[in-house]
Amino acid sequence: PFPERVKIVEVSPRDGLQNEKAIIPTEVKIELVDRLTAAGFPNVEAASFVSPKWVPQMADGAEVMAGIARKPGVIYSVLTPNMKGFDAALAAKADEVVIFGAASEAFSQKNINCSIAESIARFEPVAEAAKAAGLRLRGSISTALGCPYQGEVPVSAVVDVAQRYLALGCDEIDVADTIGVGTPARVREVMRAVTAKVDPARVSGHFHDTYGQAVANILAALETGIAIFHTSVAGLGGCPYAKGATGNVATEDVLYMLRGLGIETGIDFDAVVDTGQWISGHLDRKSASRAGNAMAAR
Ligand code: HMG
Ligand code: MG
Repeated sequence: PFPERVKIVEVSPRDGLQNEKAIIPTEVKIELVDRLTAAGFPNVEAASFVSPKWVPQMADGAEVMAGIARKPGVIYSVLTPNMKGFDAALAAKADEVVIFGAASEAFSQKNINCSIAESIARFEPVAEAAKAAGLRLRGSISTALGCPYQGEVPVSAVVDVAQRYLALGCDEIDVADTIGVGTPARVREVMRAVTAKVDPARVSGHFHDTYGQAVANILAALETGIAIFHTSVAGLGGCPYAKGATGNVATEDVLYMLRGLGIETGIDFDAVVDTGQWISGHLDRKSASRAGNAMAAR
């Protein structure tokens, strides 16, 4: 049986835009966030407080956070790899901070310049500070379904990071397919293994759609009781440290499937379609969402 309701976390302002080469005006980022919250998303990943040398596109996170129209009840999340990021997140009045590590050593080195063990040690003070400040804490596990540098990633490595996040006090844990290589049987296996240790209500699926498997992977994850998914309007996105990886699964495609399954999200589908077309226009390209383009052509 599928969950009756699913929480969609819109990650396009962060994961969707971080890899764009041309710097996007801050006002466009602000309008994107505001359009998304107006459409009904309960949680938007709005910014990233990382080194601007590593990810220049996210350098205006404080301005984005200061410029958005806060909608009561919405959780605005931001990425915080270390205490410097946490301090910026606190100043920006984020509701949730996201620590992000990996299940693969090679990816951990490329993405955050340290080993998995070192990353957990760096996350400890962030987690403590988040708890002390009363902020939500989320932990993301990159390369949970495969790594661009090391290839196969053992399920046990994913479960290990999940347990470390649990020990740090994470409210939510993301199983992330950074490069979109996962297929449904493997997704089921990983989700079953993680939810054997972590309450399924706290586990989310973050699927990139590089190989066109993301919608199928969400269906597989739904079957294991997962009810939180990360999506990106127009399928925007990609990780700067995962060459060739495309965007997150398109929000429009996921909403279309969930509507067909009779699963509630509380999100205005038409408003999301409009937003997907609008931001694609700004980036001067066709939306990567099949459902979005089909709806817009009607
Ligand atoms: P480092 O060089 O090892 O760190 O980078 P450092 O502490 O030695 O600092 C180096 C410089 O960065 C210093 O500046 C710091 O002040 C500055 P300098 O003295 O050279 O002028 N710095 C910062 N500036 C602003 N905010 C900060 C910050 N921290 C240090 N928070 C670090 C380590 C983690 C900082 C670096 O590797 C980094 O920023 N990486 C960014 C990685 C990233 O953003 N990747 C994309 C997001 S993750 C993702 O997309 C995956 C996900 O979607 C899930 C999935 O799909 O898998 C979440
Ligand atoms: Mg991602």
